[in-house]
Amino acid sequence: MMKKISTKLAMYFLAAVLIMESLLMAYLYNSMIDSRIQEEFQSILSRGNSHRDVLEDSYTEGTLNHIALMESKTETEVVITDENKEIIASSKDVSVGMRNLINDHPIEISRNGLLIESNWKEMNYLATVTEYNTGSEQGYVYMFKNTEPLRALIQKLNYHFILSGILSLIIIAVIYFLLSKILTSPLIKMKKATEDLTNGYFQVKLPELGQDELGELSSSIQKLANDLESIQNDRLEFLASVSHELRTPLTYIQGYTTVALREGLSEEKRNEYLKIIQDESGRIVHLIENLFELAKIDQNNFTITKQEIELCPLIQDVAGKVGPAFDRKNITLQINCPKGIPAFVDPLRLEQIILNLLDNALKYSEGNTVTKLTVSSTQEEKVRITVSDQGIGIPEDELQNIFKRLYRVEKSRSRGNGGSGLGLSIVKELVEAHGGSVSIVSKEEKGTTVEILI
Ligand SMILES: Nc1ncnc2c1ncn2[C@@H]1O[C@H](COP(=O)(O)OP(=O)(O)OP(=O)(O)O)[C@@H](O)[C@H]1O
Ligand SMILES: [Mg+2]
Repeated sequence: MMKKISTKLAMYFLAAVLIMESLLMAYLYNSMIDSRIQEEFQSILSRGNSHRDVLEDSYTEGTLNHIALMESKTETEVVITDENKEIIASSKDVSVGMRNLINDHPIEISRNGLLIESNWKEMNYLATVTEYNTGSEQGYVYMFKNTEPLRALIQKLNYHFILSGILSLIIIAVIYFLLSKILTSPLIKMKKATEDLTNGYFQVKLPELGQDELGELSSSIQKLANDLESIQNDRLEFLASVSHELRTPLTYIQGYTTVALREGLSEEKRNEYLKIIQDESGRIVHLIENLFELAKIDQNNFTITKQEIELCPLIQDVAGKVGPAFDRKNITLQINCPKGIPAFVDPLRLEQIILNLLDNALKYSEGNTVTKLTVSSTQEEKVRITVSDQGIGIPEDELQNIFKRLYRVEKSRSRGNGGSGLGLSIVKELVEAHGGSVSIVSKEEKGTTVEILI
């Protein structure tokens, strides 16, 4: 069975408080009773001593009676004996208990008197004795104090202590209740949320809990849920786009194959249709190659093997490959690469990056324009590669989307160019795998500049 964390906490708390409280209470209780008893002793002792002083001052029948009379009006009793412990005055009849105390006490008594009964719990009296000696007369003054009121008082004290014990138990119960409200309920909600996540339900909603550890845990779970949800949405969207991208050329191929197979078609027409079929299947191959490329990058074991190279020869090499295509479209390709710029990159990947950018510049530019490829080194020991064209440009509100997979500005306009919308996503992934960044600036009808920092 699951044990609630608040129960555990409350147990520890309860144990700690109880131990502390019992120690404190025991101390308080004992010291209160102790000091109370001490007070009583002191009071009867000093009373006995002062009776002795009076007796030593004037030992007469009158004084003896006076002392006995005085004590009969108080809560204490006095008994005065001669040296043979024969009673010569008393404020009250002497009981057996009192008599016993008078008979058996030590003979050694200091001037300040002596305690002869201190067992307040069981005996009826606390008692002290003081010796007097007038020169001619000797004897003892005994003081007795009834312990009954003392016991009543202590009983009252017990009652108060028990009451406060019960009160603190109630307070602990309340704290337990609050703890379980504050602690357990959000934890249970989070547990429920993670269970939902494992079951593939991502629309969890956790309450804001503030800045403490619980709050942080809660907001991390919330963030995880949101991330998972958007990953799932992206994946669904991506799959839908891929199916769509594949279906369109396949529909063309299917349609034109049927037409091309018709009897009595002129050789010329048939070739035209076959050309379309060739183009469309080429488009599918291109798309699948790119998708495959992205899938490889997505796998966590995708690695780039960097090496120290001279940048310009690589750039010239790439330019050489695409040169004829630029010539055919009558676009000037200007390479601006100062010699001796080293770079620490994966050459094959860098070639792929530049080919993609040049491919875009070529596809989205008209004839009689210039495309510039510029390489420079920055202060932070990085290299900057820019590809700048004078093409159709990208509308401003589309700029944030063009690095998304399968995203194309105005599907119809780039369809004619055979684009799949994966080129820039691949560029971005590859640049980021190099620890670099890519940015794009574009103006419609004016041109586009892509800048790469590695
Ligand atoms: N230099 C550019 N000038 C104008 N538009 C551009 C340029 N580069 C990219 N775009 C726009 O951005 C979209 C995404 O580019 P991306 O390279 O990712 O895909 P693509 O060129 O359509 O296809 P692919 O590169 O996979 O063959 C393009 O469809 C195009 O509309
Ligand atoms: Mg492209």
